[in-house]
Amino acid sequence: MSSDTLANLSNEERRFEPPADLANEANVKAEAYDRADSDREAFWADAADRLDWGQKWDQVLDWSNPPFAKWFVGGTLNASVNCVDRHVDAGNGDKVAIHWVGEPDDDTRDITYAQLKDEVSKAANALTELGVKKGDRVAIYMPMIPEVVVAMLACARLGAPHTVVFGGFSADALASRITDCDAQVVITSDGGYRRGAASALKPAVDEAVEKTGDLVRHVLVVRRTGQDVAWDEGRDVWWHDAVDGASSDHEAEMHDSEHPLYVMYTSGTTGKPKGILHTTGGYLTGTSFTHWEVFDLKPETDVYWCTADVGWVTGHSYMVYGPLANGATQVMYEGTPEKGRWWQIVEDYKVTIFYTAPTAIRTFMKQGREIPDGYDMSSLRLLGSVGEPINPEAYVWYREVIGGDRCPVVDTWWQTETGQIMISPLPGVTAGKPGSAMKALPGISADVVDDDARSVGNGNGGYLVLKEPWPAMLRTLWGDDERFKDTYWSRWEGLYFAGDGAKLDDDGDIWLLGRVDDVMNVSGHRLSTTEIESALVSHPKVAEAAVVGAADETTGQAVCAFVILRDSAGDGGEDIVEELRKHVAKEIGAIAKPRQIMVVPELPKTRSGKIMRRLLKDVAENREVGDVTTLADSTVMDLIKEKESSAA
Ligand code: WT7
Repeated sequence: MSSDTLANLSNEERRFEPPADLANEANVKAEAYDRADSDREAFWADAADRLDWGQKWDQVLDWSNPPFAKWFVGGTLNASVNCVDRHVDAGNGDKVAIHWVGEPDDDTRDITYAQLKDEVSKAANALTELGVKKGDRVAIYMPMIPEVVVAMLACARLGAPHTVVFGGFSADALASRITDCDAQVVITSDGGYRRGAASALKPAVDEAVEKTGDLVRHVLVVRRTGQDVAWDEGRDVWWHDAVDGASSDHEAEMHDSEHPLYVMYTSGTTGKPKGILHTTGGYLTGTSFTHWEVFDLKPETDVYWCTADVGWVTGHSYMVYGPLANGATQVMYEGTPEKGRWWQIVEDYKVTIFYTAPTAIRTFMKQGREIPDGYDMSSLRLLGSVGEPINPEAYVWYREVIGGDRCPVVDTWWQTETGQIMISPLPGVTAGKPGSAMKALPGISADVVDDDARSVGNGNGGYLVLKEPWPAMLRTLWGDDERFKDTYWSRWEGLYFAGDGAKLDDDGDIWLLGRVDDVMNVSGHRLSTTEIESALVSHPKVAEAAVVGAADETTGQAVCAFVILRDSAGDGGEDIVEELRKHVAKEIGAIAKPRQIMVVPELPKTRSGKIMRRLLKDVAENREVGDVTTLADSTVMDLIKEKESSAA
């Protein structure tokens, strides 16, 4: 972020006090900070006590072998039992767990906790029948339909870690994830609905399974759209055949607190996605507690809605595990944010707590307030934001137009790795500042440091670090302890390096400033520059590629690529740019498609051969190109600028 923007941020003077009634009735009050400071482990033990345990733990935290943490050591529990059975046992079986809203109009289902328990139990029995045992990994590649939640909880019930792959990822990306975690069973659907039309998923699974040799034994397929699918007898099994007739009795085993719950792949600074491992007791404690704390959840009266796709960590922590462990009633929507449709859902279901991403808010801002103004959204009482910094204007618009100027906005900073929200206002305590995620939550310890790991102090910028272990922290990278240490713990002794730049304002509140590594944030989704470069270079016509994330008004950042073609490719032909965009979509997924690809004769490099992405970013953002003194060949930027002007 430029220094202009930094200065602007510090000038932000608007403050929004918590509404008095919310403050009075808040689940978590200001004293929680002190309580957590005086005994962090006791604080988290209290949070863990909100869950049902088979065996109580002997030790809250074992940090004797950092950075490998163990939480609630010796304890046993079952995540699925905590998310469904215990609410039924407590007499809340008839309560709606999920108001599911399908993409085609009028396609809705209300699922109670009792029904969810039956479905999860049946699915657990069906998976057992298909040979899934405790410890086996199961890949899930599905649209936003209730069966995806059932599938995840059934896996959790069996102690079979799931790896959910976002439905927008390509067959190649799915194959590499299946291979990396050795998943022998894949759960999918024939397809899903996107923007009114049925789109297929099963063909991508077939292609992915093909690529993985004979690793995958079974593919369990939900019939969602009814479209024709290729079928491999013996390998493929219809969900309705396997699950519908299965028994709804399933005795759940209590798993060790540190038993793996799931692996979620996310982009890192190198080409290969990282398999973030989350385990059971600490993860469920961290997500359910923060969901109750940050959203001030009143399970009896609130209707909660998180718009994230289940294929990302937000969907895992704040659509599946956190809310369901808390016995919340929530909305789940299959579609994308069509104009007005979200607000219709808020009105219809009287949503009280709404959690979405800045990119969506900016899109609605562009469309104009007339659209949301046409709906009755007076049920809303709290708004959340996640995925990237929310710029002050978007925050204020969100608060005023969606929140009727009465709902606090909680800007929540966290990561796939942290599993749980780490930095956020407390809605009943904190006077919100538009654009700031404010403070580390009680029991969380964050700081902003310089290159030498010294606290920068108020008024200064640096790197965001986490200083103490927290319950839902990642335990390692799947199968790669070394990379886990290298990536997060090697920069400074004893500190977790988050990869984000941040600034402390004069009050000591935290402002997130975006990634400081080769990770881009496009619409709140994390993409690796290196991964997209590798995808481009794997195309036969490409000799070299450099990718940068350029500022974009709606998506936060956008993927911009610079490519050098091979001599044999000539000028690449007329459609080379489209050909390369398609190629990236095929290799990684449509979300990674570059917004812009420029074919250039050279790339700017330092004398030691490192691509100077900073200069390319200047070009992509239409800025004067900055300092070029370290360039090996000073004419390169002229060549690129020339190309650019001839293309314009
Ligand atoms: C990266 C993590 C956490 C779920 C969604 C993304 C950025 C996330 C915020 C926020 C500023 C944010 C960071 C972080 N980020 N939330 N409230 N303010 N930046 O999860 O894909 O693991 O990405 O998203 O850069 O490191 P993810």
